[in-house]
Amino acid sequence: MIEVKNVSYFYNYKTDDEIKAVSDVSFKIEEGEFVVILGHNGSGKSTLSRMLNALIFPHKGNILVDGIDTSDENKIYDVRTNVGMVFQNPDSQIVCSTVEEELAFGPSNLGISRDEIFKRIDFALKLTDLEEYKFTSPSRLSGGQKQKVAVASVLTMKPKYIILDEPTSMLDPYGRLKILDTLRTLNKEEKISIILVTQLMREAFEADRVLVMNKGNLVFDGNPQKLFSNREKLKKYSLDVPIIGIISEKLKKMGIKVSKDSMTSESLASEIVRLYNQKKK
Ligand SMILES: Nc1ncnc2c1ncn2[C@@H]1O[C@H](COP(=O)(O)OP(=O)(O)OP(=O)(O)O)[C@@H](O)[C@H]1O
Ligand SMILES: [Mg+2]
Repeated sequence: MIEVKNVSYFYNYKTDDEIKAVSDVSFKIEEGEFVVILGHNGSGKSTLSRMLNALIFPHKGNILVDGIDTSDENKIYDVRTNVGMVFQNPDSQIVCSTVEEELAFGPSNLGISRDEIFKRIDFALKLTDLEEYKFTSPSRLSGGQKQKVAVASVLTMKPKYIILDEPTSMLDPYGRLKILDTLRTLNKEEKISIILVTQLMREAFEADRVLVMNKGNLVFDGNPQKLFSNREKLKKYSLDVPIIGIISEKLKKMGIKVSKDSMTSESLASEIVRLYNQKKK
């Protein structure tokens, strides 16, 4: 379990330029959960993610990963092995000269056998659709492909928790779906806890639970359906109202009652067909 207890973080701490990036935030993430951290630009998502991975440390409060305080200098290695991180900018993460070496880098440092490393590399390349780029230099890949390499290189470490900071921001719609699909598979089949940071409400539908950040504060903690049905809240926190939501609202105004669970285009389409058939009878 990850426990975040009354955590605050300031940039330029105790100077005239002090910025409070995260303000007295508390929540818990259980093993096996799929959680989305949602929020607009500058709301504190990346700062919070970096604290979960022990890259930076809270100025106030504590973060415990399976009972280990991330501020305990002797245990940083344990925290980073359990919590894998995919950064917002893939260039900051990629260091090796081929994709294969990049994917081997993490597990080699963990002292894992060669056979196991090769198995993990093939698994990660397949899941991220990168098989044909195994021997390519990451510097020759597009931004979106680099994002996939960054995701794959965390997969080969098999951490218990994976935090992904806007991992689909450079991807086309197909690439985005593929990554979300991969995350779902990892969560359901490999039982890896996923913490996905995004600005997109539609990606929040993937999650069991959504945390919304606004100006450094945690302003919502609940299931995506509840957030989705509260348009006022979405507007207040500068979050997008997905097209499905707009269509549902228009239908409601026309006196057609659509089930609240219709949050994907597929479920909305079958709901409309169901209502249509009902009317015909
Ligand atoms: N290195 C830094 N120095 C000073 N202020 C910073 C620094 N990094 C972030 N901030 C400030 O901290 C606040 C939170 O930033 P953070 O990067 O955590 O937000 P975010 O939600 O990840 O935004 P985005 O969606 O744009 O990635 C913002 O006000 C930002 O300007
Ligand atoms: Mg960010």
